[in-house]
Amino acid sequence: MAFVRAASLADVDEGGLLGLEMEGHRVCLARLQGDEVYAFADNCTHRDFPLSAGELDLEECSVTCDWHGAQFDVKTGAALCLPATRAVATFPVKVEGGEILVDVAG
Ligand code: FES
Repeated sequence: MAFVRAASLADVDEGGLLGLEMEGHRVCLARLQGDEVYAFADNCTHRDFPLSAGELDLEECSVTCDWHGAQFDVKTGAALCLPATRAVATFPVKVEGGEILVDVAG
């Protein structure tokens, strides 16, 4: 496990998404409320569209792809509806001192 700084908590609004590149991986951060942040691959498994361009649903804890509307559980990466059938990879996250740390190798 090697946690690396991804962003400051202040860089992501509550209910917001942030796409970034980390160690060769495209990563999407999803901030629910407070310091509850999740990280997953920033590419929809349907047609490789960036999920960071989509929309986060705080109640469902899901992200909706902006291209064809597939939804994924931001906590588990599970595909929740068609046209996506495969989960997105998720990465371990911790928040320390206002910084978001992600383990992209984890
Ligand atoms: S690329 Fe995401 S739903 Fe098609």
